[in-house]
Amino acid sequence: MQEKEKKPVKIVETILRDAHQSLIATRMPTEVMLPILSKLDEVGFYALECWGGATFDACLRFLNEDPWERLRKIRKGCPNTKLQMLFRGQNILGYRPYADDVVEYFVQKSVDNGIDIIRIFDCLNDLRNLETSVKAAIKEKCHVQIALSYTTGDAYTPEYWMQTAKAIEDMGADSICIKDMAGLLVPYKAAELVKAMKEASDLPIDVHTHYTSGCASMTLLKCVEAGADIIDTAISPFAMGTSHPSTEAMVESLKDSPYDTGLDVALLAEIADYFRPYRDECIKNGLLNPKNLGSDIKTLVYQVPGGMLSNLTSQLKDLHAEDRFYEVLAEVPNVRKDLGECPLVTPSSQIVGSQAVMNVIQGERYKVATKETRDMLLGKYGRAVKPFNEEVRKKVIGNEKPITCRPADLLEPELEKLEKDIAAFKQQDEDVLTYALFPQVALAFFKYREAQNTGIDPDLFDSVNGAYPV
Ligand code: CO
Repeated sequence: MQEKEKKPVKIVETILRDAHQSLIATRMPTEVMLPILSKLDEVGFYALECWGGATFDACLRFLNEDPWERLRKIRKGCPNTKLQMLFRGQNILGYRPYADDVVEYFVQKSVDNGIDIIRIFDCLNDLRNLETSVKAAIKEKCHVQIALSYTTGDAYTPEYWMQTAKAIEDMGADSICIKDMAGLLVPYKAAELVKAMKEASDLPIDVHTHYTSGCASMTLLKCVEAGADIIDTAISPFAMGTSHPSTEAMVESLKDSPYDTGLDVALLAEIADYFRPYRDECIKNGLLNPKNLGSDIKTLVYQVPGGMLSNLTSQLKDLHAEDRFYEVLAEVPNVRKDLGECPLVTPSSQIVGSQAVMNVIQGERYKVATKETRDMLLGKYGRAVKPFNEEVRKKVIGNEKPITCRPADLLEPELEKLEKDIAAFKQQDEDVLTYALFPQVALAFFKYREAQNTGIDPDLFDSVNGAYPV
């Protein structure tokens, strides 16, 4: 090993986004982040993943915070580190496809407010759904990373991943991420995948996996040996469980090897010291369920993301049908097959989960289909790796004609109307985007913000509450 050429591994620290999204339902407020930003900036991480994903929704819905303001504060506090966000392709940071003009404007404003790297994915891996955001990101001259939602199934052969990696390179991306949101990757298979992708493309490979099943640090190590360039980790108090391998453990493990990250563990330890009391507070106030910190092999057995399991439990609880949990769990892979064996990630994970619940509770499959299932079968979310189940499609959409083009080609521009709708509340350009994504929640937040400005106690304001998506 010693004679080998040095190839330092780059670290993406996820504490400000995925780590708390995975462990405490994205509830870390900006005020907890601010005091530690200068230390995080000092470390020399390849990037800080700090925005996008569910943070946008959570800021508005649960924390009464302006997500754009958060981004600007992080940018100010971390002038030397690249800031990274997670972007759901045509679904932006929401749960449905938006028109191109909204997608383009969102990318532009994200970069304007401080984002350097945009990680873009589609829940069906339909690359057509990435076209607009990727083009917009290239135009804004930021680093464009396309993430492939990792999943298993007969359609997902090494050839499939290799072809997709090549196609990503051809789209003009700067790097590829293997996005294993469910924590399904296991060490040797992951290494093979990295090797295959490296063969298919010259782009740097970033591996993003979750600790859920307990395999993730082994998986990352094998991926590094197989040539992965970047790995995603979380500072130890918010690592493991449904989050990522710990940053310190990976840094120490790679020390003095050809992959040495060069990061200062003493500095990382100081950052861990800062977050530990907050983690303990989250356990005390119930935000962090200690169960989430352990490993749960169910995710490998059922091939279902951990977050989706807890979502199903709460849906069934609302229906007073908790005893049907295992029936629903058995129905999930069937629905997934009917829907073209799609990966299970926002929003497909919610669509498949809710339909599985419906199929079990109604006692007849697809007797009732959710609006989202209908839209999926109509092709409105794009193309899955396999064709949809024709029989199911007929039952749900009848004679309606499914679309086969890029779904957003059928969407009329939305911005102009949205601007009119919120004219009375607008305080900054970005407000129209906030409203575009979450109209009701945004309006509630705008009213809260106004109340704050006029001196009315904002805590008296009843903000919108809703079920929290995976
Ligand atoms: Co993740």
